[in-house]
Amino acid sequence: MDAARIEEVVGEFVSLKKTGKNYKGFSPFTNETNPSFYVSPSKNIFKCFSSGKGGNAVTFLMEHERLSYPEALRYLAGKYSIEIEEKEQTPEEIREMNERETLFHVNAFAQKYFSEQLLKTDKGRAIGLSYLKEREFREEAIELFHLGYAPEEWDAFTSHALRHGYKKEYLVKTGLTVEKENNRAYDRFRGRVIFPIHNLSGRILGFGGRILVKDDKKPKYVNSPESEIYNKSRILYGLYFAKNSIIREDLCYLVEGYTDVIALYQSGIQNVVASSGTSLTVEQIRLIKRYTSNITILYDGDEAGIKASFRSIDLILEQGMNVRIVLFPGSEDPDSYVRKHRVADVLEFLDRQSTDFITFKTQLLKKETSTDPVKRGALIREIVETIALIPDVIYRTVYIRECSAILDVPEPALVNEMNRLLRKKHRKKQQKQEQPQEPPEPTEYPAQLQKDLQDGDANFQERDIIRLLLNYGREEIVFRGHDERKKPVDTAVKVANFIIGDLQQDGIEFKNPLYQRIYEEYLSAHHNETIPDQGHFIHSDNDEVRDLAVDLLSSPYELSKNWINKRIFVVTEKERLKYAVETSLLSFKAREVEAEISRNNEKLKEISDESHMLQLLREQKELKDLSRRINKKLSRIITK
Ligand code: CTP
Ligand code: MN
Repeated sequence: MDAARIEEVVGEFVSLKKTGKNYKGFSPFTNETNPSFYVSPSKNIFKCFSSGKGGNAVTFLMEHERLSYPEALRYLAGKYSIEIEEKEQTPEEIREMNERETLFHVNAFAQKYFSEQLLKTDKGRAIGLSYLKEREFREEAIELFHLGYAPEEWDAFTSHALRHGYKKEYLVKTGLTVEKENNRAYDRFRGRVIFPIHNLSGRILGFGGRILVKDDKKPKYVNSPESEIYNKSRILYGLYFAKNSIIREDLCYLVEGYTDVIALYQSGIQNVVASSGTSLTVEQIRLIKRYTSNITILYDGDEAGIKASFRSIDLILEQGMNVRIVLFPGSEDPDSYVRKHRVADVLEFLDRQSTDFITFKTQLLKKETSTDPVKRGALIREIVETIALIPDVIYRTVYIRECSAILDVPEPALVNEMNRLLRKKHRKKQQKQEQPQEPPEPTEYPAQLQKDLQDGDANFQERDIIRLLLNYGREEIVFRGHDERKKPVDTAVKVANFIIGDLQQDGIEFKNPLYQRIYEEYLSAHHNETIPDQGHFIHSDNDEVRDLAVDLLSSPYELSKNWINKRIFVVTEKERLKYAVETSLLSFKAREVEAEISRNNEKLKEISDESHMLQLLREQKELKDLSRRINKKLSRIITK
């Protein structure tokens, strides 16, 4: 319990953003549009204000991952490399484990069995492994995704498991074994390659088994049935492997099948998940939303794929997320495409082909409707209906504008239609809830933030950067990058040069005249390729500069605000310095952008000129996107 840092444990499942001493994020327990989930590192607890749940790291794991108490401890021990001694379980003990735990155990046992069959038996290698090799699955991917092979036999697995003390009851409950009326039991998966399905902590919930040769009499895939641990609508294939990359790229690719996930992953595109077999659900989208607000759908270009993408677009927008769409040409899917092209070309293709939902829908629907006015009306309504699903009024306004331009329909007509839909939706909701409700409002900026700004806390961010310049300007921080061959390469940069470069890139200056003055001295020294030393400021003939320098240099740890939570796991001084510089610059920028958003909000309340307003709204959308990206980056560094 001492080792477990609540923000690190929760941070694996929820994208957290730092606010003052605490972290904040969207509740993983409810579907909320305003974050009300808090984590307090100092108290080592979490609190979810929308569901009322709260507790420590163990409670969180039990609640969120549905782990038992010992399982949660085992999870933490694994995460923090703490060894716990566990003796091998006797058949007696296996019986005593609680049911869910048992199902997980059975699945883990089955996964090992299928892997062994694939890699260690002659038949498995000759049939299963050679099939996977033929499809160009690489060994690392086969191992990472725990792919396996189920032999073409009646009950090979079932009798193997029974021999090892697993009760038939549980084999049937996981769906690995199917029971016949005459009490005979046989294997669900026979003569298939096996794709285990992992939950967010990497445990196996179920399996998909693909047939090896085309056979019209048999289904291409056989899947585990739903069970106490496996709920298809709440799981995304590959998410366990993809989540870090999704956070890093701030984007999630959504594909259709197991093979698409693995093919993209092994080519280097790792931010990819599949809804595999079920049509996309709200729960699945909410899973993604914990890591990013951006989804790009990669579906087949056939009719089924297009229909599915229309449904998915609406669901994603309704969750307040951004969606883009790529349809693959002809009979290609992501798996076949990535095998034929280099990864750089695939990424280029995805970038070039992906369209926003309005363009996507319009292009597809326009073809058949350009001449027929009735159909054209239906198309317009269809698109406005989709736009009306977006919760944020600013985004809605910008999209209406875009739609008006693409379809060449006057904007007021679209706005009228959209308002009609919104009123209808609002009425329906009220009827359902009986309690009258305020119509949906745009997201407001949190009260705390507004307060910070008024309190002049913005000064703190500026002061902190000056503090870093003065104390550490001449020291080096090291950044790890990669060369063309993906080999890690370290680059050392002087703190002052890094800060100046970073601020100049964004054209940022200091509001506080004293800080700006000191910064300018660094700037002019920078032009001469030098960095002022501390004495320069301590002996300045300007009283204010001198006092500030002494102040900042004599209390180098003042900034514990950003450091305190990190102190336990940041190891070296250099690492800590880099962390401090990065978070300080990002907090500074976040603050700038947020202040700009507030100013814009004020302006928007007063404005009446329409074209000016649209300009502002568009700016506002860009600022919000920017703010989101900065905060993502910040929380990534903090929770890393
Ligand atoms: N699926 C299923 N049952 C089927 C067919 C498909 O459960 N009879 C699910 C599987 O999860 C599959 C996904 O739907 O991964 C997408 O189907 P498809 O594109 O046909 O399969 P791929 O995974 O692309 O397999 P392959 O490339 O081998 O054809
Ligand atoms: Mn495929």
